[in-house]
Amino acid sequence: MLETQLETLAGTVRARILAAQTPDELEAVRVEALGRKGTIADISKGMGKLAPEEKARIGKLLNTTKTGLESALAERQQEFAAAALRARLDAEWLDVTLPAAGTRPGSLHPLTQIQQELEDLFTSMGVAVLDGPEVESEYNNFDALNIPADHPARDMQDTFWLSAGQCLRTHTSPVQVRGMARLGPPLLMIAPGRVFRNEEVDPSHEHTFYQLEGMMVDRDVSIAHMLFFMKTLLKHIFRRDVTVRLRPGYFPFVEPGFELDIQCLICNGEGCPVCKQSGWVELLPCGLVHPNVLRMGGIDPEQWGGFAFGLGLTRLVMMRYGIDDIRYLQSGDLRFLRQF
Ligand code: DAH
Repeated sequence: MLETQLETLAGTVRARILAAQTPDELEAVRVEALGRKGTIADISKGMGKLAPEEKARIGKLLNTTKTGLESALAERQQEFAAAALRARLDAEWLDVTLPAAGTRPGSLHPLTQIQQELEDLFTSMGVAVLDGPEVESEYNNFDALNIPADHPARDMQDTFWLSAGQCLRTHTSPVQVRGMARLGPPLLMIAPGRVFRNEEVDPSHEHTFYQLEGMMVDRDVSIAHMLFFMKTLLKHIFRRDVTVRLRPGYFPFVEPGFELDIQCLICNGEGCPVCKQSGWVELLPCGLVHPNVLRMGGIDPEQWGGFAFGLGLTRLVMMRYGIDDIRYLQSGDLRFLRQF
């Protein structure tokens, strides 16, 4: 009697295990048949009333039925787990060889680009590329460049003064002083870098900008050497021959000093809004190194001469790309930067 009941029970439960479509359904079957208050448990509770030999036989049968069902259950659970894993692998499949979405390669800042380009050019001409500190001594930034204490460049408005006779360099010219000390004559050097002025910021003024200083010291250096050097430089920058002219200009560290103009590249000297109808655009200051500067640099001005120039890298970038507001350059604005 109990045996048949057990066999039928085993049959139905097995069928329900196989028919279960979800882990939840399967769990319901397990609780109902094999749980603490399930059918099998009920049957074993009723065994107390059986005769001892009956008890042994049914007990054994009960056990095999139970383990049989348990393993059928485990097998089905495993099938569900495997199916779930397969579904997940399908859903989360990814092609690791695809390029990542939404990244674009960065690029160098236009100032860095032009600086590196010029460093390459000058290096190929045998010129040393020197670096100097942004925090300079008052001596290197001013005194050694023949800038007297009452010169407007020392005005508190223009210079960021630090403590102990230090300042943020207002130009790259102090690297001339360092260059003379380090290299001695003859020398051919450039020094690109960042400079600082205590300025009100507007479309054409920044407190921080870039210059490229150049200096050549040798025997019998003339203005002709300087002009040739400048023309080579400008031809490279603008990728064409440029007509230049010199106007007198005053800088304490050169004598004579000049402003070098180039013929307007937009109108070829005809006159246009960019050159304000003059046909010429002011490009860079330069001159023959002042004897005092050579002397303070430990170089005998009777034996040696030189020329120097201070190219405004920031201005050059603006001219090259037609940027009309200097503030874009340090804005960090990606809409601006992505154009280069
Ligand atoms: N240091 C000057 C400035 O920032 C620019 C300059 C002028 C540099 C004439 C030179 C030079 O080397 O010869 O205003």
